[in-house]
This record gives sequence, C-alpha cells and structure tokens, in this order.
Amino acid sequence: MDSFRIQGGRRLSGTIEVEGSKNASLPLMAAALLTDGELTLHKVPCLSDITNMTRLLRELGIEVDGECGTVKMRVVDPNRIHAQYDIVKTMRASICVLGPMLARRRRARVSMPGGCSFGERPIDLHLRGLEALGAKIELTEGDIIATAPNGLKGTTIFLGGPFGSTVLGTANVMSAAVLAEGTTVIECAACEPEIVDLARLLISMGARIEGVGGPRLVIRGVESLGSAQHTVIPDRIVAGTYAVAAAVTNGDVTIREFPYDCMLSVLDRFNEIGVHVELVAGHDDPMHATVRVTSERTLRPTVITTQPHPGFPTDLQAQFMTLVCLAGGNSIITEKIYPERFGHVAELSRMGAKIYRQGPTCVVSGGTPFKGAQVMASDLRASASLVLAGLAAEGVTEVSRIYHLDRGYTRMEEHLNMLGARIERVREGAVVAGEAPMVTAAAV
Ligand code: EPU
Repeated sequence: MDSFRIQGGRRLSGTIEVEGSKNASLPLMAAALLTDGELTLHKVPCLSDITNMTRLLRELGIEVDGECGTVKMRVVDPNRIHAQYDIVKTMRASICVLGPMLARRRRARVSMPGGCSFGERPIDLHLRGLEALGAKIELTEGDIIATAPNGLKGTTIFLGGPFGSTVLGTANVMSAAVLAEGTTVIECAACEPEIVDLARLLISMGARIEGVGGPRLVIRGVESLGSAQHTVIPDRIVAGTYAVAAAVTNGDVTIREFPYDCMLSVLDRFNEIGVHVELVAGHDDPMHATVRVTSERTLRPTVITTQPHPGFPTDLQAQFMTLVCLAGGNSIITEKIYPERFGHVAELSRMGAKIYRQGPTCVVSGGTPFKGAQVMASDLRASASLVLAGLAAEGVTEVSRIYHLDRGYTRMEEHLNMLGARIERVREGAVVAGEAPMVTAAAV
C-alpha cells in the first residue's frame, strides 16, 4: 500500500492545471448505456475510480476505447445487465449505471452498495424515483433487481431526503426519465454542476430537459438517443484543494481551468479567511478561469456549514478544516450532508490541531502550527486534508493508505512537487516518485 512522505514548510509557487471532474465523469460514462451510438468524452481524469467504471461498463457489454483523456464508448452486447459486487464494493458510484441500464435494457441487476467510512449512505431515493417511473424493484442476494418490461412512464417525483437532494439519485432518475414515455418532473433535483454537465450531455444526445441547474427538472421522454461528444467540466474539488495548498503554505499559485462560477460559496469562505483568489485578466471564462491564489500572513477564523450546491461542498470540508487550523481564533465547521464525515479529525489532532467535536459540529481552535507525524487516510477527502496539513507542518509527515487519494486526484504528489513541494510516494519501502530521499518521521 502506497504512502506519502512529505517534507513540510515549503512555500508553493508556480502554475497548475485542474483536471476533469471525477464526479462528473462517472455518471457521464454511465450514459453510454443509453444509446446504440458512440459516446466520446474528453478530459476524463486518470484515476482509479475511472478505471473501475471502465471495468464495470465493459462487464455490461460496452466497448471502451481509452482509459482516460479521450474515452470512446459504444454498446456491443446489450444483454449484459449484472453489475456485480466485486466492482460495486470498490466504488459506490457504480450505482449510477442503474437508471440508464433500466431505461434502455428494461432490466438491471446492480449489487447494493454498502456503507462507507463516513456513514451509511442509503440509496432509498434512487429506488423511490425509479419506482415512481414504473420500475419494479426487488432485493435478492444483496442485488437490486429492477425491471420495467413495458418501459418507464413519466410522472412527478419529489427527490428530497433528510439531507436535501441526492446527486447520484438525480443522475439516475434523470437518465432513466429521458427515455420514459411522457413527461417527468423531478422536484428537489440536485443542482450540483456535475448534474448540469450530465444534463448537457444528455441534451446533446437528443434528450429534452428543461430547468437544468435548478431544483425542478422537466424531462420530456424521447424514443432513443444518439451519439455525442462532450468535454468534462474541471473538477471543482481538486481546484479547491490546490487553492488550499497554496494558502496553507503562504504560497503564490496560479491555477488554470478553475471552475470559478460554480465555486462562489468556496470563494466566499476563502475571502473571509484571508485567502485571495483573483481572476487573471483575459482568462475569466466562468467555468475555465485562471486564478492567482495568495494569502494574508495572518488568516482569520470562520464559520462553515456544508450544504447541497450552491452551498459549501461537503467534499471540501476536510481540506478547509486543515486551513482554519492555521487561522488565529475559533472556527466552527458543521457537516450537514454526512454528519459522520470526520475521519480526518483524530489524524489532524495527531499533528497538533486543536479540534473539539460535538456531533456534526467541530470547533477548531486555530493558530497552532502543525507538527509532522505518521497519520492514516480514511477516505478520499480526509487524505487530501492530511496531505495539506503535511505541506504546512514542521518536519516530516507520513500519510499512509494513499490509495484513497488516488481515487480522486491524478498523481497529486507530482503536481504539488512541480510547485515546490517535497512529497515522495513510498511503495512497500521503495521510493518511486518525488525528489531526493528524506529522513522518515520516526527519525525526526
Ligand atoms: N441520501 C439519502 N438517500 C439516498 C441518497 C442520499 O438519504 O437515496 C443522503 C445521503 O446519505 C447524504 C445526502 O443524501 O446524507 C446526499 O447524498 P448524495 O446522494 O447527494 O451523495 P452521492 O450522490 O452518493 C455524490 C458525490 C460525493 C459527494 C456527494 C454530496 C459522486 C460520485 N459522489 O455522492 O462525493 O460527497 O454527492 O455532494 O458524485 C467525494 O467525491 O469524495 C464524494 C464522496
């Protein structure tokens, strides 16, 4: 299992480009199940989650050409309908094949995803939405079996749950409704930019969807969808993570392909904390901007509450916790999407952070510098927060179980090293990337 060894205290500077979005790419790839035509996606990131999705689509009878970058997909065997446990257990997002497969093949068998390291993560809303469209849903041997022998029928569906809308639930129900007979209204649809990107792709394949980007989607079903080409939006969570990397090292970093327009809640918090994210003149395309990130010497504490888009994203909560650990004073972070998503708290505390948690809220008493330590990543975004803390820390930090990070950031260590960081990827004791070997945390 790989780990990172990070020599902290190095100021980052230079230019970095944000890759295509993982969370947009996964449902976009699943849309290949909806057509007999060819689907071509550009800017698909090179990540283990994408490799797993490719494997899953191949098992479902899709020919996939290309692992990342430009990926072409076309159905070659429409009779394969079983998304098996061995892949689904590696990636919950596998559930996003359910809606497209049911709509096009009229039956689908998808292993029920389990919980994850930050909570239960049910899929009841996905299933309720598909049932409302007329599907029969059964659970057998841990698999969801969904059938609609006479096709799906448009209806009005409320997709809100106790934590607001559901992102992949909206992707599933919207992708199914585009081929349903008649009109479907989805109320309390997710407004996340990844859903907007999926809707845009479906429209370019021939779907009729109104209200894109808002909470009410009106979908008029069509008989079939055709071929399309589409470029994946830049990853707003990767963009935010690299901006935090600049801020925690008091750096000066230019970030290209920054999806500014869908990060306004994040920019608002950066501004309050004292991190400047300035648009570079002439490069202000709202979703593909270039920004320069610098920060004030003394950072200010803040209050952050995660919410569905356009609120502050849960996927940047851990990284901002690292940031406010360095701000003078008390910050309050409340997690309203996944109340248990705090795997990073104990590990940041090992590095000297002062964090007091009560249920879904953490009070971060900032201003104490991080000290290098051996820490363990528990999930993707928690890993990112530990790497960020390692960049800012005095001494050497070892972050183990970096496979979590590789699910969502393409070769993060290479990108950060290009900005002046010093991170080695250590595999079974062997140094495989980064700069010259360093002493281990244990020896410091
Ligand atoms: N929920 C339900 N019932 C459902 C579905 C969701 O109660 O049927 C609850 C969840 O438990 C959670 C909330 O609703 O409390 C929102 O969950 P959502 O369904 O929106 O999450 P998701 O679609 O499974 C995607 C991202 C996550 C991101 C969330 C929230 C992908 C592949 N995953 O998950 O990304 O945190 O939306 O924005 O798009 C990550 O990238 O690290 C990650 C976890």
